[in-house]
Formats: sequence, C-alpha cells, structure tokens
Amino acid sequence: MDETRLAILDRLDAGTASGPELAASCGVTRAAIWKHVQSLRDAGFEISVDDEGYRLVETPEYGAAAVILGLDAPYEVRYVERTESTNEVARSLAETGADEVVVLADTQTAGRGRLGRAWSSASGGIYLSVLVRPTLPPGEVSVLTLLAAVAVAQAIEERGGAPTIKWPNDVRLEGKKVSGILTEMEGEADRVSWVIVGIGINANVDSEDLPPGGTSLRSELETDVDRASLVRDVLERFYALQADPRGGLEDWRSRSDTIGRTVRISTHDSDICGEAIDVTYPGHLRVETDSGMVDVHTGDCEYLR
Ligand code: BTN
Repeated sequence: MDETRLAILDRLDAGTASGPELAASCGVTRAAIWKHVQSLRDAGFEISVDDEGYRLVETPEYGAAAVILGLDAPYEVRYVERTESTNEVARSLAETGADEVVVLADTQTAGRGRLGRAWSSASGGIYLSVLVRPTLPPGEVSVLTLLAAVAVAQAIEERGGAPTIKWPNDVRLEGKKVSGILTEMEGEADRVSWVIVGIGINANVDSEDLPPGGTSLRSELETDVDRASLVRDVLERFYALQADPRGGLEDWRSRSDTIGRTVRISTHDSDICGEAIDVTYPGHLRVETDSGMVDVHTGDCEYLR
C-alpha cells in the first residue's frame, strides 16, 4: 500500500486527526490527504470527517488492506477473491522477479496439497502463499516449511487452541488436520532462485465440509476467527522465525506429535517403518528402524501406534 496511505491509517488507528495535522505529519498538502482518504474509502475503509477531523470508523474485514494495517513484516500483500491456487499466482509473480510478496485468496478453485492431493478451499478459509528469495542453500529450504508450521501453531495458540504438529507440516487440533503447507522452489544445484510457502488454514469453515481427518478453527474453537488478524500474526511469526531457523526447529520439536511414535513413512521408492526419535536440521525425521537409524527427507507419514 502507498506509504502515505499507510501513515494516515496508522495515525487514524490511534484516534481522530485533523486535515492539517495529517498533512504535516505525512509531509503532503491537505488536498493530497483528501485524495488519499478517498482512495482508502475505495479500498473499503470507512472514514468519517467532521469539525474535529478524520476518524477511522471501520476497516475492511478481509483482504490486502485489512492485513497490511499494522503488519510488522516487510511483505507486500496482494489479495484475489478467487483464484485457482495462490501458489500459482505467486509463481507467476516469481517469474517477473518479485520478492517478499504474499498472495492471499478467499477461495481457491484448484487448491493444491502435498503429494499431488487437492486442498479443500471454500470461502472462509485462509489460503496464502509467501514468495521469498532466501539465502539458504537448496538442501536447507525444507526448514521454511517447518517454520511456517510453527508460525501457524503459535498463532492458533494465541487464539486459545492447543495445536500439535505432525511431521513434516500438518498442524493439528485434537489429532485432526487444521492447516497444511505446500512449499515449492526453483533454483540450481547450489542456489535458490525463489521459494513459495503456501499455507492453508481451515479457519471459518465447517469441519463437516472438509475431507476425513480434517477440522477447522471454527469447529475446534467454537467461534469464528478474525482472518486478517490471524494472517498478520502468521506472517509476522514466519518472518521472525527465519532469523533463527535452528531455534525455530526447537519450537517445532516442542509441538511435535510425531516424535516418540511408531511411524511408516512412504517415500517415492520405499516405506520406512520404525520409531520417530527426532527431527534434525533442516527438518529430516530421524527414524530408528530394525536395520538402523535413517534420516528421512520427505514422505507421507502415517502413525502406526
Ligand atoms: C498439504 O497437503 O498439507 C498442503 C496444503 C497446502 C494448501 C495451501 S492453500 C494456499 C496454497 N495454495 C495452494 O494451492 N496450496 C497451498
């Protein structure tokens, strides 16, 4: 969003402000303030004006403007009401050179999950993709997926839930999946060009409308969540966690419901069975099998006990 508009919103968020005061603090004319206020109204902000000045009456419920207001992370947010997949939109942006952009949608018509599965994407859920260009080596990019799961789990905790994480990235409430993450990347053997971390959260949808094994925040918390605030929280946490990925892995471990379980991991060429004993950087599952210790990089995890 335009910097002056953001400054106006920030100021109005704190209370009523006169035209001259806004003009002085933003370094523009009063006429320019009026035009910016009009643009903000067009974007869904209800701003009244009387003798005392401008007053922010209501912010839009969801969308880029709602998320960006007060967002403490350097992402540009783009909102589309309906799209096939936010990961696809983010990919097109990546191809034009974009960086630190978040694509957010109310509905996806072809939401994609891991391992070629579909992701149920009805209106009311949260569907977002974060496009980043990290300095991590390609072999370490998987840590971003785990950090995203931690960010989602922490944001749910903040709203009263007690989520756990199933390796690698299913966030669960009462053993049912409430959020999943699909990370895609492009790069060369030794250099990452871009990474898209696609996050789906079953927020204000009914669990009966989700595939078996799924649940929603609405069903588990017995209330609807403020989606804009939840998105903001997830983005801020995800951004902050990247400053210390190894520390973030500790946050992952402490929420894991995989470590200590007997698991079967289906990989592209075999099944690995044993006890999950740890997750090692950048996110490999260490499994104690009958034939020794194996660090699994990727796969579908099933709990046997
Ligand atoms: C999983 O299978 O657990 C991953 C689900 C990822 C879904 C999200 S929703 C936003 C982004 N766009 C997609 O098409 N998929 C991801």
